[in-house]
Amino acid sequence: MKVMDKNKLVEKAIEAKSKAYAPYSNFPVGAALLTEDGKLYIGANVENASYGLTICAERTAAFKAVLEGEKIFKAIAIAGNTEDYLPPCGACRQVLLELCGKDIDVHLVNSKNEIKTLKLNELIPFSFGDEYLK
Ligand code: THU
Repeated sequence: MKVMDKNKLVEKAIEAKSKAYAPYSNFPVGAALLTEDGKLYIGANVENASYGLTICAERTAAFKAVLEGEKIFKAIAIAGNTEDYLPPCGACRQVLLELCGKDIDVHLVNSKNEIKTLKLNELIPFSFGDEYLK
């Protein structure tokens, strides 16, 4: 298993941020999603003149990974240009819960490149998931 520490993963999220297509908000976000066996999928937000069609960085990364057949994930790093740690939006929390599981580490980055790590579970407590549909 390839090892990628959280600093490296955060670096990848910061790099991914430069690929954002965010001409309307000027609010670029980058994400880097790590699979259990060390593969990396980056994402960035992609906006649209029809604003509601915008997709967030976290979801682009997760969708890419899932479409490549990935099922087990370890961590995601999320980077923006915000002074505070950039928290993922509610929609992304729900999608990450579905595709990556509640136990992944979520590394949030602030503009000083400091890192705050939480479990996804802490970001989306009392969540609705597949257990209710059995
Ligand atoms: N955005 C993300 O990419 N991830 C988040 O979790 C928060 C918001 C993007 C969506 C939009 O392109 C811009 O940030 C401003 O909302």
